[in-house]
Amino acid sequence: RRPLRVALLGCGVVGTEVAHGLLENSAELAARAGAPLEVVGIAVRDASREREGVPAALLTEDAEALVDAADVVVELMGGIEPARTLILRALERGASVVTANKQLLAEQGPVLFEAADTARADLSFEAAVAGAIPIVRPVRESLAGDQVQRVLGIVNGTTNYVLDEMTTQGLDLEDVVKRAQELGYAEADPTADVDGYDAAAKAAILASLAFHTRVSIHQVAREGIRHITRDDVEWARRTGYVLKLLAIAERTDEGVAARVHPALVPTDHPLAAVRGAFNAVFVEAEGAGPLMFYGQGAGGRPTASAVLGDVVSAARDRLIGGKGPHESAYASLPVLAADAAITRYQ
Ligand code: HSE
Repeated sequence: RRPLRVALLGCGVVGTEVAHGLLENSAELAARAGAPLEVVGIAVRDASREREGVPAALLTEDAEALVDAADVVVELMGGIEPARTLILRALERGASVVTANKQLLAEQGPVLFEAADTARADLSFEAAVAGAIPIVRPVRESLAGDQVQRVLGIVNGTTNYVLDEMTTQGLDLEDVVKRAQELGYAEADPTADVDGYDAAAKAAILASLAFHTRVSIHQVAREGIRHITRDDVEWARRTGYVLKLLAIAERTDEGVAARVHPALVPTDHPLAAVRGAFNAVFVEAEGAGPLMFYGQGAGGRPTASAVLGDVVSAARDRLIGGKGPHESAYASLPVLAADAAITRYQ
């Protein structure tokens, strides 16, 4: 098959990992996607700056030309513009778009979805909510036949890491935020994490999917963790609670309500055990009952995992309009005999 041309927009913490993934695992991804995935270029602001493990020849400052040359456009620039214009351009051309841009989705989701519907093009965004955790697809697809009542969870790794370090190490908020930036958890502007905007954007996206409606970030009540002190976390700990920044969206008699705020979680509650940059999301649905999703919510590799999954999935949809080759069609790993497999578990 002819290769599918993949364009990356942005080469930050996540973009670099996605580029590595596409370049280093090309044979495996080609087998899963059904055709080779050829990286045709990576749009950046300054193409003269070196990026580790990324061939300089792929870097370009001409994002528009790159979009016009691609079958699959992966937007990892963040922010509203120029991401919005480039995504719309890609969709209008019929390219598949993969994005991790929660801010854009939470503010302008309807515009993007309408453009995708009009062009009958794919727009996927698993990485926009809770990093590596598969939550968008389960809520959007697996629960499409159910009635979701409530979505509740920890969806910002930076603030969870900060509250966690303040609790266990007795550190001040500002110092831990700096560390979260170094670890690649924080947004380019970490006030988006600290003041709850990032969690509110994710709450808006989850609420829109779960309740089949349009919830914008401006409809999410928001309070961040900026004012939380070491004394607060210490007082919570002594009284049997842990402070967590929660995102909550629920169906009420009047409509959908979404909010983000710090909350006291009893230490024996599963959310209290969510440490560091991990996230956890509970979904309560009428038929399914309670479901829990847990995993790494921030960081380059985990977030890139979700992006790469969307790229493979978009490629499969373009090529065969479906889920791709069945595993047995390309499996090449030897399968251990049952007794050997059991030995390995001991
Ligand atoms: N800054 C975000 C977080 C990154 O800390 O969760 C993942 O969206």
